[in-house]
Amino acid sequence: MYRTHTCGELRQEHTGKEITLSGWVQKKRDFGGMTFIDLRDRYGITQLVFNMDDDADLCGNARKLGREFVISVTGKVRERSNKNPNIPTGNIEIETSSLSILNESKVPPFTIEDESDGGDDLRMAYRYLDLRRKPVQQNLIFRSRLAIEARKHLADEGFIEVETPNLIKSTPEGARDFVVPSRMNPGQFYALPQSPQTFKQLLMVSGLDKYFQIVKCFRDEDLRADRQPEFTQIDCEMSFVTQEEILNTFERLTKHMFKSVLNVEFGDFPRMTYDDAMRLYGNDKPDTRFNMQFVELNDVAQQKGFKVFDSVEMVVGVCAPGAASFTRKELDKLVKWVQRPQIGAKGLVYVKCNEDGTFKSTVDKFFDQDALKSWADKMEAKPGDLMLVMAGETEKARKQLSELRLHVGELLGLRTRGVFKPLWVVDFPLLEWDEESERFHAMHHPFTSPKKEDLDRMLTGDHETMKALRADAYDLVINGVEIGGGSIRIHDRALQSRNFDLLGFTKEEAEAQFGFLMGAFEYGAPPHGGIAFGFDRLCSIMAGAEGKIRDFIAFPKNNQGRDVMIDAPAPVAQDQLEELSLNLAVKQEVD
Ligand code: AMO
Repeated sequence: MYRTHTCGELRQEHTGKEITLSGWVQKKRDFGGMTFIDLRDRYGITQLVFNMDDDADLCGNARKLGREFVISVTGKVRERSNKNPNIPTGNIEIETSSLSILNESKVPPFTIEDESDGGDDLRMAYRYLDLRRKPVQQNLIFRSRLAIEARKHLADEGFIEVETPNLIKSTPEGARDFVVPSRMNPGQFYALPQSPQTFKQLLMVSGLDKYFQIVKCFRDEDLRADRQPEFTQIDCEMSFVTQEEILNTFERLTKHMFKSVLNVEFGDFPRMTYDDAMRLYGNDKPDTRFNMQFVELNDVAQQKGFKVFDSVEMVVGVCAPGAASFTRKELDKLVKWVQRPQIGAKGLVYVKCNEDGTFKSTVDKFFDQDALKSWADKMEAKPGDLMLVMAGETEKARKQLSELRLHVGELLGLRTRGVFKPLWVVDFPLLEWDEESERFHAMHHPFTSPKKEDLDRMLTGDHETMKALRADAYDLVINGVEIGGGSIRIHDRALQSRNFDLLGFTKEEAEAQFGFLMGAFEYGAPPHGGIAFGFDRLCSIMAGAEGKIRDFIAFPKNNQGRDVMIDAPAPVAQDQLEELSLNLAVKQEVD
């Protein structure tokens, strides 16, 4: 028997008990006559003691153990004289009577402790060793608990889990597809699903009524902290539902996950229209843990002789509470921050609200105290606050101020870890006009339905009308991260066909790509809608990692989309290429 207990289990009440433990040698301390070993497994760490006076051979063997050796020991639990209050097993130790080495280990390339000395790249290359570390294991345990709770709750609400295929045809969700060549169909390719969108809609046509799946999705897009090329969704779809019912259903799911895993409770989630989110936060996924809402200042800041403001579409500001104490150096840094190419602002106007009720600004030459007071009144700025103002073309100025708001919120410690602010953003535009390609794009995806009241306008309206159409589409945002998104779908062939038409598909292209779905709509498709949660993002937000998802994925890709542990992607053999009829298309680089 390898073990009677785990390394996290033994307490003072086990004193005197004969036990067997197995695990990894985390640390060894030699004190001449005594050797101490910290033995680790998934459940914790237990101290083993070997005494030269009791058994010199055994103690000698213990002294030869290296870090990460896998061992099994038998011994007696005894109370420690030198207790360690920092670990749950800290009151006891094992007086060891036998030791067997189950496997040796090379010296690991970094320390396998809570704080490791290994850099990112090294730990990624030896991910299986990094995963031995408690904080990383905790993330996976957290993820597992969350998935189990989501499944339990959805099953209780009558959802059934259905698996959909991974070798499919492209679904346009805004990213590039990963493609897979077909050996049996030379020159033809499958695409890996960016999401199971069309399949879950077909399941509704089939009458399955309530579907969910915890499912891998694949998107070939540029990577960021909250994006991986393969990621997981809690994907859901329901029939005969309104937007209201969907929001309520998935608000219940979200509340259940927070309550069961974190013991956090919420009232009703606030809702905000897309237009309001853009106007008040310059962003469709506002971090509402702190206020600092945008205030438009055109009427008080324009036509006062300051050319930078006079010539622009939008002058807009935020009030940073208590930030008048920023030093000149800190403020200069802030100006430089917005001028970086990533933000791309020309400049930043700031106004300090002094404790004595006066103002000090970078534009004192153009705006007297009364003028600045009118800004402060509009922004409800109090003495000690700092007003930050940007100007430009509306969309751009809002976007830049939105970045600044988040940055200053961070500097002021307003984006508190452990505080969760969920928000539904609703009433997204149906279509987005892209100046560059001179085409409409679907704001959510091409299967999203316009609002009922916009249906006729969509079928008959002109170009400008199309820009104003609103969709029954919604996002769940928590702490400024888009956790989920969904919509009510089109379930009518003519309307779906019109949408493809607006999106620039020819009839033939639409038929070739989505004929199967439009065909299904001709056989009694019920009204339906759904949502998908980004499961990796949800884990990371709930665990306080602010949307950084890599640590919640067992084997993630790096920023170049590589798995450095297995060294993928990698070339394949010439005969494999030939078998796939790819021999002409690809020039292999052999190192
Ligand atoms: P959407 O494209 O909004 O909707 O995706 C749903 C959620 O998935 C997460 N997500 C990602 N997470 C990690 N890495 C990525 N590369 C990535 N891309 C998206 C986000 C996002 O909110 N089929 C629709 C859903 C529907 O309409 O029901 C869809 O996939 O958290």
